Amino acid sequence: MTGKKPILLSAIKPTGDLHIGNYFGVMRQLVELSKTGKYQLLVFVANYHALNTVQDAEEMRQRTRELVRAYIATGLDPKEVIFFKQSDVPAHTELCWIFDTITTMPYLMRAHAYKDAEAKNKEISVGTFNYPLLMAADILLYDTAVVPVGADQKQHVEITRDVAEKFNRIFKADVFRLPEAYIMPEVATVPGIDGQKMSKSYGNTISIFASRDELAKQIMSIVTDSSGKRPENVYRMHRLVRTDAELLPLYDAHRGNYKALKELLIEDLDRYLAPLRAAYGLLKDDSSIIDDVLARGRQEARTISEAKMEEVRRTIGVY
Ligand code: ADP
Ligand code: TRP
Repeated sequence: MTGKKPILLSAIKPTGDLHIGNYFGVMRQLVELSKTGKYQLLVFVANYHALNTVQDAEEMRQRTRELVRAYIATGLDPKEVIFFKQSDVPAHTELCWIFDTITTMPYLMRAHAYKDAEAKNKEISVGTFNYPLLMAADILLYDTAVVPVGADQKQHVEITRDVAEKFNRIFKADVFRLPEAYIMPEVATVPGIDGQKMSKSYGNTISIFASRDELAKQIMSIVTDSSGKRPENVYRMHRLVRTDAELLPLYDAHRGNYKALKELLIEDLDRYLAPLRAAYGLLKDDSSIIDDVLARGRQEARTISEAKMEEVRRTIGVY
C-alpha cells in the first residue's frame, strides 16, 4: 500500500470542535498535498496525546469519530489515505518509552508547552511533560519524510529530529529518518474572533461546520478597533478565502463600515464552508464508514510500525 512514495504524516488531538484555524492551518493543505499524488498520507487521531485533557470515555469516543468524519468531509480520500487511531498501534507508546531513556529532563524542560505551564505555575502531568517524545515516536515509526503542522508545532518536529539523531548516534545505526516540518507561512496563524491566535483554549473559534447562523453570530462578534481604518481582524480572516487584489477595493469602498465588511465576510466564508458542512452531514448518517476506515488503517499502521519496531529492538539489544 505505501509503495515507494515518501510518507507524509499528520495528526490532530480529539480535544474539541474543529475550527477554521485547524482547517486553514493544517487540514486544507493536507488535502492539497494529498491531491498532488506525491506522498503516501498517514493521518491519525492522537487520542493518547488527548488523554492528558480528555478524561471521559464517551467524549473521547465521540470526538474521535467526529475527527475522522471531518477529515473525510474536508476532502481526504479514505481509499488513498491511511487513517488510524494512535491507541490502535501499540508501537507508539513502546517507542516513546525507549526515547524516554535517552532524553534528559532539562532537554524536555525547554519545550514551549512545558515552559508555558511553568510560567503559569500550573502543575502538569508526566504525560504532558513527555508529550514531545510520544510525538517523536508517532513520526519516526513510519520513516516520515514530511510533517505538515501549524507554526506552534514546529518545535515538536525539531525535538523529533534531535531524538532521531541522538538514537542513531548512541546505537551507531541509521534507524530513523529525519523528518521535515512543512509550514505554509501565509496561513501560519489564523486569528480568532478576538484577534489572538484562534484556539479552542481561548474560546475565540469559528467552527468549520458551523451553520450559517452560527457563522454570522461569530463573525459579528469579531473585535474591531474604532480608528475607522481597515478592521484588521476582519481582513485577516477574509484573506483566508479571497485574495488581496479582490479584497482591497471592497475594503476601500466600505471604509469605516465594519458591519458591511463583516456581512461580506459572512457571505464569503459561508460559501466556502457550505460544501464541507454538507459532506460532513452526509457522513454523519452512516457511521459504519468510519468503523471500516479505522479498522483498515489499524492493520496497515501496525504492519509498517511493527517492522520498524523489530529493527529498533534488534538495534538496542532486546530482540
Ligand atoms: P487548539 O490551539 O485549538 O488547541 P490544536 O492544538 O488542537 O488547536 O491544533 C491542531 C492543529 O491545528 C495543529 O497542527 C495546529 O498547529 C493547528 N492550528 C491550531 N490553531 C491554529 C491557528 N489559529 N492557525 C493555524 N493553525 C492552527
Ligand atoms: N501535537 C500535535 C498537535 O497538538 C498533534 C500530534 C501528535 C501530531 N502527534 C503528531 C502532529 C505527529 C503531527 C505528527 O496538534
